Amino acid sequence: MADRTFYLTTPIYYVNARPHLGHSYATIAADAMCRYRRLRGDRVYFLTGTDEHGERIAQVAAAAGVTPQAYADEISGAFRETWQRLGITNDDFIRTTEPRHAKVVQAILQKLYDAGEIYFGEYGGWYCYGCERFYTEKEIVDGKCPDHQTALTFIKEKNYFFRMSKYQGWLIKHLEDNPGFIQPERYRNEVLGFLREPLQDLSISRPKARLTWGIPLPFDDQYVTYVWFDALINYFSALGYPDGALYKEFWPHVEHLIGKDILKPHGVYWPTMLHAAGIPLYRRLDVHGYWTIGGGKMSKSIGNVVEAFELTDKYGHDAFRYFLLREMNFGLDASFSEEAFVGRLNADLANDLGNLVSRATTLIVNSGGVSRVPADSELDDLERQVRDRFARVREGVDEAMAEFAFQKALARIWELIGLLNGYVDVSKPWELAKSAAARPRLERVLYVLGESLRFLGIVLAPFLPDAAGKIRRAVGQTGEPKLSDAAWGRLAPGTPVQKLSGLFPRVDKEGRSQEEQIGKMYAATRTSNRPPTERAGLADPATTTPELANSVSIDQFSKIDLRVAEIIAAEAVAKSKKLLKLTVSLGDSQRTVVAGIAVHYAPADLVGKKVVIVANLEPAKLMGIESQGMVLVGSAGDRWAVLTLDRDLPPGARVK
Ligand code: MSP
Repeated sequence: MADRTFYLTTPIYYVNARPHLGHSYATIAADAMCRYRRLRGDRVYFLTGTDEHGERIAQVAAAAGVTPQAYADEISGAFRETWQRLGITNDDFIRTTEPRHAKVVQAILQKLYDAGEIYFGEYGGWYCYGCERFYTEKEIVDGKCPDHQTALTFIKEKNYFFRMSKYQGWLIKHLEDNPGFIQPERYRNEVLGFLREPLQDLSISRPKARLTWGIPLPFDDQYVTYVWFDALINYFSALGYPDGALYKEFWPHVEHLIGKDILKPHGVYWPTMLHAAGIPLYRRLDVHGYWTIGGGKMSKSIGNVVEAFELTDKYGHDAFRYFLLREMNFGLDASFSEEAFVGRLNADLANDLGNLVSRATTLIVNSGGVSRVPADSELDDLERQVRDRFARVREGVDEAMAEFAFQKALARIWELIGLLNGYVDVSKPWELAKSAAARPRLERVLYVLGESLRFLGIVLAPFLPDAAGKIRRAVGQTGEPKLSDAAWGRLAPGTPVQKLSGLFPRVDKEGRSQEEQIGKMYAATRTSNRPPTERAGLADPATTTPELANSVSIDQFSKIDLRVAEIIAAEAVAKSKKLLKLTVSLGDSQRTVVAGIAVHYAPADLVGKKVVIVANLEPAKLMGIESQGMVLVGSAGDRWAVLTLDRDLPPGARVK
């Protein structure tokens, strides 16, 4: 990616359907790419918008009993609002019903007409109203549109045609000479495949007698412009073609991100139109695959359309972005399911990233912060691996992003996260904290962790903008992140660090967050298990004072060995909704305690907490894990609270 100026467009979306998962993927992918390029320090322009003319829009508007303009205004507004809510950083939003666009479409039509590239003729063919295009005999499947599976209509009418056929040889040569013009390669091959058949001229008008919802041809007011000829031009009408400063600066650097469904218009019509008009071609077409649901097409009629907001409102924008970018191999189809989404959210975000951030910030804060930059000669093997991985991750991410392979970029970053989690386990900073002699080693560990979080806060920014911002702030970084700062050794000693836990709360299989679960449990106990007076809220056994009948003597009580214990690691117990496996330190020893608090606490929230345990409780096996003690927890209905100290005491201190 030597080019330091970058202009990226998304498809402009038809206003006949509300924004859904498919549109969101394209826009989020483009947003992640533009954020990445800005992070590199590149000059970036990012365009999206809506495609508002044509027969389909006129039809849906008529069915809804409103004018096409009113219909377009509403749905275009929904797209714009969706992108705002998802935090999309587009620089402009173009609508094809805007005068600035119509003006440029007419100028290009006139230019091509004057140059003899457009002629008047008659054509008869099989037309799909859904696709707004004619199908050749070869493309028709069982007499139907291969895409919509609906019957085609034979239309014979006089129209204006663009002499596209004459550019067939030129386009084949261009694709052969420029192997990277369309990527991934399979789509370049697909376009070369289209071009093995004779290329027809392209009908670029519709008679007004049949359709009025379009841009009038400048040279014949009885016709409006064909929707694809109108829509493609948005890519430079938005830049103020031909004299606008934006056009001059950004057009030479344009790439179009599209889905595979619109490959032909972008891979064949568009380059030939540009070439005929004497306008430089786009630099590259980046083609993504399709999201399917349960292996099938997402469609309104099947009723499986995933609306963008449903998931982001439920799980957060960052989690939604992460899933889409990580799960789809760019260029191939991917299957969407909420289960797969929740799986990734829990494994990659809550466990791997969230836990690391929580453990690292807690350790740093509890151990007095980052005090010094360790000398290179001090670093052990694993620490050198972490240090060297910074540059490798950056290279790997850069290579992946050069081909829009978001999944690879994220995989590279997660390899580092895995390495760091392993590093915490192996270096056991909680043990180092116990002896003064181990202080220099502890300082190194704290530095490696703090510095790694600073690095992650930068490289994650394009993919998880909110979480990355929180990570940067937790390790005292202010201002806009820069990729050039993602280099080892820049975290300054004394940088203020804050604990950051619960970055990505875990979600259970049914998709409920822990807060919702607590609410549900409470509702269940209130209605089913309690006497009517309590159900009416008159008394809550959890908060009423117990009788003194079962009193114990002070001697009996003193047999219970209560100790301050520091939680140094916490993890969910497989196949259990309630249990957490805690590793606690009692100062001179460590032990495992299993606690039934998973509904109320995420593992990451517990690490670093000093709690009170019953240290001499008989060991018991819970789900195959031996628990050596019990954590004291208070509860009042749905509120559970782990007992912590109001002043600091060392782990192992007695509680009486
Ligand atoms: N208006 C045209 C594009 C004109 S560009 C000059 C159009 N609009 S659309 O609303 O149908 O959007 C198509 C694009 O939305 C696809 O190319 C793709 O980027 C995205 N997706 C729509 N459904 C999709 C999936 N099921 N999966 C992935 N992306 C899909 O075509």
